[in-house]
Amino acid sequence: MALLIRNGEIVTVGSRVQADIYVENETITGIGKDPETPPNTEVIDASGKLVFPGFIDPHVHIYLPFMATFAKDTHETGSIAALIGGTTTYIEMCCPNRNDDAFEGYQLWKSKAEGKSACDYAFHMSVTKFVKETESQLRQIVADGTASFKIFLAYKNFFGVDDGEMYQTLELAKRLGVIVTAHCENAELVARLQQKLVAEGKTGPEWHEPSRPESVEAEGTGRFATFLENTGATGYVVHLSCEQALRAALGAKARGVKINVESVLPHFLLDKSYAERPGVEGMKHVMSPPLRAKHNQTALWNALAGGSIDTVGTDHCPFDTEQKLLGKDSFVNIPNGIPGIEDRVNLLYTHGVQRGRLDLDRFVDAASTRAAKLFGLYPRKGTIAVGSDADLVVYDTNYRGVVSAKSHHVNNDYSGFEGMLIEGRPSVVTVRGKVQVRDGKFVGERGRGKMLKREPSHFCL
Ligand code: URP
Ligand code: ZN
Ligand code: ZN
Repeated sequence: MALLIRNGEIVTVGSRVQADIYVENETITGIGKDPETPPNTEVIDASGKLVFPGFIDPHVHIYLPFMATFAKDTHETGSIAALIGGTTTYIEMCCPNRNDDAFEGYQLWKSKAEGKSACDYAFHMSVTKFVKETESQLRQIVADGTASFKIFLAYKNFFGVDDGEMYQTLELAKRLGVIVTAHCENAELVARLQQKLVAEGKTGPEWHEPSRPESVEAEGTGRFATFLENTGATGYVVHLSCEQALRAALGAKARGVKINVESVLPHFLLDKSYAERPGVEGMKHVMSPPLRAKHNQTALWNALAGGSIDTVGTDHCPFDTEQKLLGKDSFVNIPNGIPGIEDRVNLLYTHGVQRGRLDLDRFVDAASTRAAKLFGLYPRKGTIAVGSDADLVVYDTNYRGVVSAKSHHVNNDYSGFEGMLIEGRPSVVTVRGKVQVRDGKFVGERGRGKMLKREPSHFCL
C-alpha cells in the first residue's frame, strides 16, 4: 500500500523543510505539498513533528559468544527494541574467534539474522586471525555485500590480532576498497595490568577501568592510525571513550590519515563512577574501553558537535545480571558490554539537542547519515530523498518519559541508563514504507528486515 506522511518538518543534513512525503513500493517517490495520492493511500499526520531518515546504529552485537557466555538478544528481540527507539538499520559485528573458521562464522552470523530481524541490517566482518585462506574468504565475503572489516587490538588470544595480522588486513582492505573498523586498546598492557591488579587483591568491578587506562586506549588508537598511514587504508575507530584517544585519532587525521571516529552512547552519558558501584550494580557498567572519568564527556560532546567524532553507535551488548555475576570473584571475568540499542536516539536527542550540545543537523548526521556514507549505504539509507528507502521516523519532541528495564524491549533484566529522562521519542517508524512502530509499540511485520548488500567505496591512490 502507498503511504503519505503529511505536514511534518523533514530534517536531513543541510535541510529543514515542511513538506509531505509520498511512498510507493518501499521507496520515497515524492516530496512536496499536497501530492496526488491514490484512494487507498495510508495517511500519517506528522503535524507538529519532525521527520528524520531512519536512524542507523553502526555498532551492535546481537549474536555474540563472548567471555564464556552469549549476549542475550536475538534478532527478533534486538530489532524490535531498535525500531521502537527509531533505529531502522543496524550493523552487527560478525565475531568468530581465532579458533573459528572465518567463512563458517560469517554463514552462522547471517543465519541468525535471516528472516528474523524486523529492521534492515548489515555486518562488519571481524578478522580475528590472518592465515592462508583468509584473503580468499574475505574476498568472497566482500563479494557477498559485506564491505567493511573489524579488527580487535584487544582481547588477546580470542578476538585480538597482532600487528602483523593488522598489517595484512589493512593492506588487503586498501586493495579491496573496504573500510576497517577497529577496537583500539593495547592487548598486552591490558593482560599485564589485569594480572597485577588481581594479584594485589583488587578484584571488584571498580578495577576494570584501571586495568585499561586511557593511555592504553590512546596507544591502540595511535598504533592503528600509524598502520593506516603506512598502508593507505581507510579506518574507523569504534567506541572511542576518552580525550587522550581522541587526540591520537585527530592528530593522525590532521596528518592526512584516513581515520574516522565513532563513540558510543555510554561514553557520553555514563562515567566510571557507575562501574565503581558496589557488587553487581558496578558489574552492569563494565564495558571496554571502560567508562571513564567524567571530564572526558565534555571532550566527546564537543568533538561530536564539531563533527570530528563522526558517528554515535551503541556497542549494544546485553548480558543480564546472572551473566555479569560470572565476574563476582574477579572483574576479569565480567562479560563486557552494556545494552543501548533502544535508547540511543532518544538519549542523544535529549542530552544532545534538547540540552543545546548538538544542533539538529549534526544529530541526524551522527545518528544516521554519516554511518550511511561511511559504510556504503548512502543514499539508499541515511537521508530522505526521492529514490531512497522509505525508512522514516516521525519524531514527537513533546514526549516525556523515563528509560527503564521495566518497560524496555531489549532482552535484558537491567538498563545501563535506568531512570534517565527522555524528552522526545518516535511516534511512527517505517521500514521501507511499512509502519513498524506506533507510539512505543511494535505493530509491524516480524522478519521484514533484509540484509543490506554494500559495495566497497573506499578506493584511493
Ligand atoms: O564491552 C564491550 N564493548 N563489549 C562488546 C565487545 C566489544 O569490545 O565491542
Ligand atoms: Zn570493542
Ligand atoms: Zn562492540
